[in-house]
Amino acid sequence: MKAVVRHAYGGPEALRFEEVPAPTPGPRDVLVRVRAASVNAMDAHMLLGRPAVARLFTGLVRPRDGRIGVDLAGEVVAVGEEVRRFRPGDAVFGVARGAFAELACAAEGKLARMPPALSFDGAASIPVAGSTALQGLRDAGRVAPGRKVLVLGAGGGVGSFAVQIARAVGADVTAVTRAEHVERIRALGVREVFDRAAGDPAAGDAGYDCIFDLGGIRGFGALHGLLAAEGRVVAAGVGGLGRPTLGGMTAWGGRIAGGLLRSRLGRRKLVFTMAAVRPDDLDLLARWVEAGTLRPPVTARFPLAGAADAMHALLGGRTGGKIVILP
Ligand SMILES: NC(=O)c1ccc[n+]([C@@H]2O[C@H](COP(=O)([O-])OP(=O)(O)OC[C@H]3O[C@@H](n4cnc5c(N)ncnc54)[C@H](OP(=O)(O)O)[C@@H]3O)[C@@H](O)[C@H]2O)c1
Repeated sequence: MKAVVRHAYGGPEALRFEEVPAPTPGPRDVLVRVRAASVNAMDAHMLLGRPAVARLFTGLVRPRDGRIGVDLAGEVVAVGEEVRRFRPGDAVFGVARGAFAELACAAEGKLARMPPALSFDGAASIPVAGSTALQGLRDAGRVAPGRKVLVLGAGGGVGSFAVQIARAVGADVTAVTRAEHVERIRALGVREVFDRAAGDPAAGDAGYDCIFDLGGIRGFGALHGLLAAEGRVVAAGVGGLGRPTLGGMTAWGGRIAGGLLRSRLGRRKLVFTMAAVRPDDLDLLARWVEAGTLRPPVTARFPLAGAADAMHALLGGRTGGKIVILP
């Protein structure tokens, strides 16, 4: 089969489009013919090998696993002998290792069935970004109807889901993004969208119950004054993908430690979220798409052989939303 692989850490040019052996499903795995995959910031981190500390787990000098891509949607080709929920021919979406390929193996527990109203590219855009947005707002942010929510970094994949999910639960949403994405985010039904170059939204008029920070740039100290008395900053992003320097890492670590200490001592909290892709949340997100409450924010499509261009688009930040790869 054809797949996108990498043999070294590097930028998008490190990606190769090669003939590789098809994966073989284990007893609890599902072999999926990939109809669409989507690109996540996590794929860029894996490709670049940054932050450097992650190389302790992924390979110090070169990546131990050449496969890349996680989000996918497609059709079941074969199932392991212990798989009960799926059978060949089912349309599914979720996460797998090596989704940028014609075929990929996923654990049964990382997939959900695709409702007929969902397209393959729409479904492939959902798993990581949709789950991160849902769990960040609902579980870490405790967002409820009427709460004031500020989404920092609304233009990216997670942000484009987050503004819609916050609206779907009845929150009062304000978004900040780069100038290129302001109109697209406004078209998702968010009334107040600010260009991030223009500074803090409503800096004098604090009172956000939840600030969902996807840029990871600002730090708790800078956001603290925008929170309501028991408000929460939910941090999902880890900051830029720039080259690590000792000074930069120390400042970053110091900012996080300072934020956690201040959060521990006060009523306003800093909470980190780490998304897990689960079938029940995928089902919920798919139902919202079926109901018209949630629109998969697909902004660009590339062929499998053009995965490097898709990665360039993600790293450039101007495309925004979700970038999809079509085998
Ligand atoms: N914790 C988890 O489980 C989890 C899961 C998925 C993703 N993440 C993290 O969440 C972040 C967003 O992921 P994604 O998939 O949405 O990535 P993406 O589609 O590549 O979007 C990039 C994001 O970074 C923001 N950004 C880039 N440069 C910035 C700057 N100079 N100042 C402020 N914001 C900046 C963008 O904000 P604009 O709207 O202003 O362009 C946008 O929100 C990434 O850091 C990713 O690693 C965490």
